[in-house]
Amino acid sequence: MKLQGKHIVVGITGSIAAYKAATLIRCLIKEGAEVQVVITPAGKEFITPLTLSTLTNKPVVSEFFDRRDGSWHSHVSLGLWADLMLIAPASAATLGKMAHGIADNMLLTTYLSMKAPTWVAPAMDLDMYAHEATQNNLSILQQRGVHIIDAGSGFLASGLEGKGRMAEPEHIAGEVIRYFESGAMPLATPLSKAPLQGKRVLITAGPTYEAIDAVRFIGNHSSGRMGYALASACKAQGAEVTLVSGPTALPDPLGVKTVRVTSALEMLQASEAIFPKSEIAIFSAAVADYRPTTPVEGKMKRETLGQELQIQLTKNPDIAATLGAKKEARQLLVGFALETSPNEEEALRKMRVKGMDMMVLNSLSDQGAGFGGTTNKIALLSATEVVHFPLKSKEEVAQDIVQAIIKRLERV
Ligand code: PMT
Repeated sequence: MKLQGKHIVVGITGSIAAYKAATLIRCLIKEGAEVQVVITPAGKEFITPLTLSTLTNKPVVSEFFDRRDGSWHSHVSLGLWADLMLIAPASAATLGKMAHGIADNMLLTTYLSMKAPTWVAPAMDLDMYAHEATQNNLSILQQRGVHIIDAGSGFLASGLEGKGRMAEPEHIAGEVIRYFESGAMPLATPLSKAPLQGKRVLITAGPTYEAIDAVRFIGNHSSGRMGYALASACKAQGAEVTLVSGPTALPDPLGVKTVRVTSALEMLQASEAIFPKSEIAIFSAAVADYRPTTPVEGKMKRETLGQELQIQLTKNPDIAATLGAKKEARQLLVGFALETSPNEEEALRKMRVKGMDMMVLNSLSDQGAGFGGTTNKIALLSATEVVHFPLKSKEEVAQDIVQAIIKRLERV
């Protein structure tokens, strides 16, 4: 129950995607969240309050007062009650009114009274979505700290195909869970006040796969979790993040530009393109040190291979060191060192030879640290200090690293 104790106001507006709100609510409630629906008059044309109140076990709020007994629905108390306001679907009309403070229904007054972070999942026809007015409204809201769950592409209710589909309920619920797991507060911060606002961050994450033939590869146990948590933590502090990721099973972090690659050479190429436009680079990927010199085309046939198989390997480029050699004074570089045991000397040596400013040391001998799992135990090293941290979730570790980066930037 990852959302146990969380209060979520789900706002529903007049869009055909309102039917998806029912699934979204189910996903949130299944994880323990308490959901209060606030629906616009147009929203009720698309999904009935009866369905929604049955799902949430609460009366749906739509009017300023109850027509039966005249009791007042307080948008102010909803604003105080909620841990998150999630408007899904958010129509073009509601986005426009939110951007310009037009409070002509209960959903909009609730938004204007909201003390918790607000997220919107736009849903509309492709031309409406692409229109300058809608895009301007979205950008106004984003500047104010409203989080946008980008619309997807596909078949639209109009019969046309393009961008404007509301993100899938399971995806939105997953992002809500990740948001609360990552410490929750940061996305509420208006972008203008976020410490990494205006900073562009490059992060490498995950393993690389080096092809032996069409089906086999050399790889390692990196899940990508550490790097993805760093991407979300940087984004939460206002940074523009590009994540260059090796193969992982993780979804793209919310609001992060994710470039998927397979091999070390591809990771280098993608990182080299982004590095000159970055103020911060974090190298958390577990890059394969060697690749088969000549991958076999097609699948090698087991029957035709001898008892022993020799594969010639070529050393891969060191991505951190290659970019470290090009580092400019305006850039801050953070490397990782994965050691068998906590070897600070070795981490400091890697920091120097790779041109890093800071190093995150994690060791395979520490229980719960390193590859795969959801936790890590790190020491943060720089030329002047070493700070040790206890075992924490990778989301918390990422926040510790990002706070150290922010402190370091403040000192410069
Ligand atoms: O993905 P997870 O399952 O969450 O696991 C996280 C992690 C264990 C992979 C992560 O915390 C970590 O330690 N990443 C670095 C792993 C590693 O390759 O360490 P290293 O000591 O071999 O490399 C030192 C540094 O050089 C690293 O910043 C690495 O990204 C970089 N490097 C290494 C080799 C190479 N060819 N190119 C590189 O950029």
